[in-house]
Amino acid sequence: MSATASHFHLIKTDSGTAARRGRLQTAHGTIETPIFMPVGTQATVKALTPAQLREIGAQIILGNTYHLNLRPTSELIAELGGLHRFMRWDGPILTDSGGFQVFSLAKLRKLRDDGVEFHSHLDGRRLFLGPREVVAIQSNLGSDIAMVLDECPPWPCERAACEAAVARSARWAAQCLAAARETGFFERGQLLFAIVQGSTYDDLRRGAAESLAALDFSGYAVGGVSVGEPEPEMLKQVGATTPFLPAHKPRYTMGLGTPPQMLKMIAQGVDMFDCVLPSRVARHGLAFTPDGPLNLRNEKHRRDPRPISEEVVNYTTQFSRSYLRHLVQAGEILGCTLLTLHNLHFYLDLMAQARAHIEAGDYASWHRAWCERYESGAQ
Ligand code: GUN
Repeated sequence: MSATASHFHLIKTDSGTAARRGRLQTAHGTIETPIFMPVGTQATVKALTPAQLREIGAQIILGNTYHLNLRPTSELIAELGGLHRFMRWDGPILTDSGGFQVFSLAKLRKLRDDGVEFHSHLDGRRLFLGPREVVAIQSNLGSDIAMVLDECPPWPCERAACEAAVARSARWAAQCLAAARETGFFERGQLLFAIVQGSTYDDLRRGAAESLAALDFSGYAVGGVSVGEPEPEMLKQVGATTPFLPAHKPRYTMGLGTPPQMLKMIAQGVDMFDCVLPSRVARHGLAFTPDGPLNLRNEKHRRDPRPISEEVVNYTTQFSRSYLRHLVQAGEILGCTLLTLHNLHFYLDLMAQARAHIEAGDYASWHRAWCERYESGAQ
C-alpha cells in the first residue's frame, strides 16, 4: 500500500518565493498548511487543556515516542484506546520517533547498526529502539503522522561522522517503511515521514533528500537543524534540502523556530513546524508581539495598564501587563496558562496570516516587512 495516496494537496504555489499553501488529510482531520504544531511531549501541551488548544486554533499537536514509551508506556496507552482517547484530543497528532530524544536525554547510549541501546533518564532501565520498535510504538499510540528513526549529528560535525549518520538514517528509514507496510500501518490511516540529515554539508543533504524522495514516504522532514549552528547556516541547510524533496509531499522542519525563522522557511517551501519555544518561554514570562518578545519580568511593566499588544486579540490580551507581570513574579499557575495561550495563539495566527498572504499572492513583500518590524522590535 502506498504511504501517500493523495493525502496532500497543493492549493497554491507562490510566484515570488517557494512558499506553498496546502492541505494535508489525516485520519483525525484536515490540516491547512503552512502550520505550526504545539508540542505536547508528555501527552499534554503544558498548562493548556485540549479545549483551550482548540479555542486558539491548534490544528495538530505533537507527542513524543521516547517519553510516552518510558512513561506510562505505549502498551498502556494502547490499552486505554490510543493517544487521542487517552489525552482527549480528537485532532491530528504527530509523534517524533524517539531517536533524537535518546541522544539528548538518555544516559549511556550505544549506537548499533540495528538501533540504539540506552538507559532511561527516569529510572536507568536498559532499553532499545530500532526501526521496528519505533513503528510498533507509534502504532500503539495511534499517531496520525509517525516519524522514522534517525541519527541527528551534532553541530559541528566532521564529514566522515556525518556521512555515517546519513547512511545509518537512510537504512533505518527504509526499514521503518518496510515495517510499516508489513504491519498494516497505512491501512489504518497512519502516515510516515522520512527525515533528511546531513548537517552543514549541502551535497550530503541533497543525496539524502534524493534517496529518501525515491521511496514512497507520506512526507519529508528536515532534521538536524537548530542544533547550535548560527541562524544563516540553519537557513542555508533548509535551502540545501527543500529543492530536492518531492513537490507533492508535505515538508516539515523539526524543532523550529522563532517567528521570523518560520516565515523565512515558508519562503523556502516548508509547510510544517514544531517548537517548544513559545510554550517554554511563556513559563518564564516572555510574550510574543509583532515588535518582538516582551519580557514581563521587567520592572517597567509594573504599573503598565496596557495589554501585551494592542494589535493582537486573544483571551490573554484582556489583561494588563501589570497583572500578567504580577502573576509571573508571584509564580502563579495562571501566569503560565495565560502566557502559553497567548504565545501559541500568536504562532498559530502568524501561520493563518502566512496562508492568507500566500493565497493573496503577496507573501514575499508581506513576510519581509513582518520580519523587519519584528527584528527591529522596539520593546
Ligand atoms: N527534533 C528536532 N530535530 C530533530 C531531528 O533531527 N530528528 C528527530 N527525530 N527529531 C528532531
